[in-house]
Amino acid sequence: MSRTVKLAAIPGDGIGPEVVAEALKVLRAATDGGEVDFDVTEFSLGAARFKATGDILTDSDLAAISTHDAILLGAVGGDPRDPELRGGIIERGLLLKLRFALDHYVNLRPTKVYPGVPSPLSDPGAVDFVVVREGTEGPYVGNGGSLRTGTPHEIANEVSVNTAYGVERVVRYAFELAAKRPAHKLTLVHKTNVLVFSGSLWQRTVDAVAVDYPTVAVDYQHVDAATIHLVANPSRFDVIVTDNLFGDILTDLAGAISGGIGLAASGNINPDGAFPSMFEPVHGSAPDIAGQQKADPTAAILSTALLLDHLGLLEAAARVTEAVEADIAARTTTVDGARSTTEIGDAIARRVSSIL
Ligand code: NAI
Ligand code: MG
Repeated sequence: MSRTVKLAAIPGDGIGPEVVAEALKVLRAATDGGEVDFDVTEFSLGAARFKATGDILTDSDLAAISTHDAILLGAVGGDPRDPELRGGIIERGLLLKLRFALDHYVNLRPTKVYPGVPSPLSDPGAVDFVVVREGTEGPYVGNGGSLRTGTPHEIANEVSVNTAYGVERVVRYAFELAAKRPAHKLTLVHKTNVLVFSGSLWQRTVDAVAVDYPTVAVDYQHVDAATIHLVANPSRFDVIVTDNLFGDILTDLAGAISGGIGLAASGNINPDGAFPSMFEPVHGSAPDIAGQQKADPTAAILSTALLLDHLGLLEAAARVTEAVEADIAARTTTVDGARSTTEIGDAIARRVSSIL
């Protein structure tokens, strides 16, 4: 009896559909003839749909997506200069709404400098760390407002929300991950010297949970210092746990040092399994190269490795990662000008099929 996984695919805008097509190709190659079948339903969401219909993410979209086992998202968002899309309407109405509604409290962003990829750092060393970013709280919850808006006396508040429950569950996930990884290291990144109320909650939570994980070495860094260390000595990191805002910023930096936005994968995870988790490349819809087969689909393909891993299909996940590593090692430059999006996807799918 084969297991059927109901997968919701949200290709989105711009290069999203191009990279999702290759990711699905590799996903099928990795599970071909095996124990699992992917039953894929496509959802048409994003800036293009909003401009055509006025809908961003309706209750019925959300209900339909929720019935799936997992979600694969390409990228959403149109031209940032488009006045109809101002104020992050798609980001908040679609991406953040999905993360909050589906309780994606772990935003998992691995960073690895793959052999063969030129990093902008001259000597990065062996870089292989994971940022565990809190996904449902912090300053991103929309807890704020403005008074006397547009006057010289305007007051604008954006309140960061940190709950003991929310912090503990993400910290516990990070410790669990660190305990399973070879380096057994966890670094809390915050700004406890200035953001004293939330900082104290994060620090006390890490201290308390650490007792349950005696094999994990615990470290702390202020977020500003962490940006220095990420550039000066990124190989010192293993698992970083941090809040929603710091995690957002640090993972862009992490993407840059690892040599390319075309390689950075991520997972928005609901570890309890109450809702489907969502996997996506870190990059956006790249309107500048959309429709030209210029996008590197590797980040989307690596996101399917995270998806397979989350579903417990560890062998298939390892085959995808191995195939991608072999493909990258054979490249001469990170920005793969020579091959089209489809050619890269085909090459990786072929390697996946040939790994036994
Ligand atoms: P972007 O990530 O789309 O593009 C930044 C630069 O990286 C561009 O020069 C682009 O050509 C290049 N690039 C991105 N992905 C690439 C790939 N796979 N291969 C080769 N080159 C790649 O970020 P930008 O330009 O700030 O945003 C464009 C749109 O995407 C906006 O509407 C933004 O809101 C949205 N966006 C959506 C995200 C999501 O769906 N999760 C995340 C980030 C941005
Ligand atoms: Mg970001």
